[in-house]
Formats: sequence, structure tokens, C-alpha cells
Amino acid sequence: MSNTEAAKPAPSKGGGLAGMVVADSSISFVDGAAGILEYRGYDIRELAAHSHFEEVAYLLWNGHLPSAKELQEMKAQARACLFLPPEIIAALRNLPKGAEPMSVMRSAVSMLAHYDPESEDSTPVAHQHKACRLLGQISGVLAAFERIRKGAEPVKPRMDLDHAANFLWMLSGEAPDPLAAKALDQYLLLLAEHELNASTFSARVTASTGSDLHSAITSAVGTLKGPLHGAAVQEAMEQFLEIGTIDNVGPWFTQVRAAGRRVMGMGHRVYKVRDPRAAPLMANVEKMVEATGERGWFDIARKLEAIAMQEPYFRERNLSANVDFYSAPLLYSLGIPVDTFTCVFTMSRIAGWTAHVYEQQANNRLIRPLANYVGLHQVPYVPIEQRR
Ligand code: CMC
Repeated sequence: MSNTEAAKPAPSKGGGLAGMVVADSSISFVDGAAGILEYRGYDIRELAAHSHFEEVAYLLWNGHLPSAKELQEMKAQARACLFLPPEIIAALRNLPKGAEPMSVMRSAVSMLAHYDPESEDSTPVAHQHKACRLLGQISGVLAAFERIRKGAEPVKPRMDLDHAANFLWMLSGEAPDPLAAKALDQYLLLLAEHELNASTFSARVTASTGSDLHSAITSAVGTLKGPLHGAAVQEAMEQFLEIGTIDNVGPWFTQVRAAGRRVMGMGHRVYKVRDPRAAPLMANVEKMVEATGERGWFDIARKLEAIAMQEPYFRERNLSANVDFYSAPLLYSLGIPVDTFTCVFTMSRIAGWTAHVYEQQANNRLIRPLANYVGLHQVPYVPIEQRR
């Protein structure tokens, strides 16, 4: 073996950093073969049954469940941050008509840094303040943007409502139905954190350079926007809408398979069994559709999953329903516009992202992997007039 060959880095297994461990973390644990997800050691099913989003955000940030006093303080701080700086509302009003919602979210997070008194302060206390502010502000941005683009005025948040209920209130200006608020709260809880998913990794890479929290979260929002990651929830809903009727599920599936298209909301890089978040989400959609009497999209989703799971192609590749599959009909049943579904995902994942940025900064080393170079070497430079 020549020296040049010996110096080559080992290629990552199949690309995409699949199967590579790149950080120590105590925030969440995923066992993809057994279908287990834990936040700080607590099973996600246990948390979904007994906890709520704001408590889980506290758990992710601090490593322990809060006392009643700690939770009250954290909620008061996050609720106060639902009130956006007037400059942000003005900027949302000035956006081009038809601005893409996740691009709006990415810009808004970046702009919020200018109005955060601690944006360049990287002490643990400042980080905690900023994380809590961003948690409140992101849902404020989404609600205000949605109101403004409909030609309505933004609705002021209420200090007496929990995070999910407040969002529904700010979106519609109507007192939220408790069942809908609970379903959204559970959605936020279930998606709050997921180890080194692509957007969290982006946030950690940015944080590892010593950059600020808003920059790290801006990177994460841009990464979540992609259809293989966060936007899969929108695309899953669009596919259910495209299917249209329960009788069309079978013919649609046959067509999609023949065309080699992916079924959105199925498959996962880590889970090789059904995503543990799918069952609690499914149970929530069921409650919502029973209350509203509009079963259509839920039944279409269930039939599509059943048909896919009978297909050897899906079974051989361990492709099961992931978190986005039942999130889509759930968010739809809450009356949330489909093109903002990924922004609602942002409202949830901000809890995990900010916990990871803190963990990265507390024990930092620049994240700088290697590439397995497969290009040419020592190519002679050709002057422009001699090029073909
Ligand atoms: N439908 C049909 N075929 C699929 C699907 C799917 N949803 N997902 C993967 N495959 C096939 C893929 O074509 C490949 O087949 P082959 O071995 O014949 O080339 C094989 O399964 C492995 O696919 P991969 O793309 O190498 O797997 P990956 O681990 O890199 O990708 C994934 C994981 C989530 C990107 C992929 O399953 C996918 O594109 N799913 C649809 C999009 C989706 O639902 N994304 C949300 C992911 S979970 C929440 C989140 O992260 O935000």
C-alpha cells in the first residue's frame, strides 16, 4: 500500500454518516431496533401519558423534572416571550406575498437576535434566558405570520393559557377547544427532541464553531425545512389529500410504487421498527376525529399504512410509519394550514435544539469531519484561451 492510500480516511458507511457516533450526549436515547425513545432517561410513552410540553422542555434543558415553583417561573418567562418585538411584527408585514413559511421562520429566528439583549452573551444563564425566549417567540412568529398573510391582525397571547393552547388562541382569536389544545400539546411533547437528527446536528455544528445560539437555531431551521426531514409532515398530508378517498388508497399506492416514488411519513434512518411516537399520535388523531366526525384523512392514513406493511418491499427494508405519518392528519384536524406544518414542528424541536447547543458549548470541540476524496489529483492548470 502506498503512503497516499494509507493516509485516506475511512469512508462513512454508505454515506450520510449512517451508523456513526459523533458526540456524547445525555439528552435523549434512541434504540432504533427496539423502538425506544427516552428524554433524559424518561420513556417517551410515560411522558406522553403524564407530562406536558413545557415541563418536558424544562426536563430537556435542566436534566431533571421541575418543582412546581420552577415550572411556574419557566412558564411565566416563556409566555411573556410570546409578545414579539414590534420590529419583528413590522418585518412580517413587509414580507413578499406568498413567502414560504419555513423561510419566514428561518429569517425571523435570525432577526430575533437583533432584539435579544443577550444575543452575544454565551454564559449558561444567558443561554437559559435565550432558549426560553426562543421557545415563546417561535410560536408567536408563526401565529402572527399566519394572521398577517390572511389579512388579519395578530392576536395578543394570554398569560392564563399553556403553550399549545396559546398558539391555537393566537392563530384563531377564539378560545381553544381543550381537546385540540391537549392534542397539540402532546404533539409538541413527542417531537421535542430526537438525538442527533439532521437539524440538531446542524445546530451543534454551528455551535461548535463558538457561534451564538440564534445562528445555531437558524442553521437548524434551515435543515428542518427539507422534505427528507421536517417537511415530510407536509408532504405526508399532501399525499393523503392527493389520494382523496379511501377507495383510492390501493390504486394510488400501486401507481406510486410503479413510479418509484417514496411514501412520505414512512421509513427512518434509525428506527427499524414502528416509530414509538406513532402510536400516541395515532391515538390523539383518533380522539380528534371522533370529536369532529371527520374521519376521512385518518382512515386514509391507516389504510395506506396497512397496505404498505403488507408489501415485501417495505417489510424487507424495515420501512414503517414514522412520526410524521400521523402528525399530518393530527395537525390537519386542528385546522393548521398544511404549508405551516413544518413550522409547528419547529415550535416543538426548539426545546431539543437549545438543549443540544448548551451541551455542545459546555464541552466543546470543533466538529470538523473528513471527506473521502474521490476526485482528481495534480491536474495541470490550462490557461483560459487554451480551454475547449
Ligand atoms: N418509501 C419508499 N421507499 C423508501 C422510503 C419510503 N418512504 N424510505 C426509504 N425507502 C427505500 C429507499 O428507496 C431505499 O431503497 P433501495 O435500498 O432499494 O435503494 C431504502 O428504502 C433505504 O432508503 P434510504 O434513503 O437509503 O434510507 P435512509 O436511512 O437514508 O433514509 C429517510 C431515511 C427517512 C430519509 C427515508 O426513509 C425517507 O425518505 N422517508 C420518506 C421521508 C420521511 O418520511 N421523512 C421523515 C423522517 S422521520 C422525521 C424526521 O426526521 O423529520
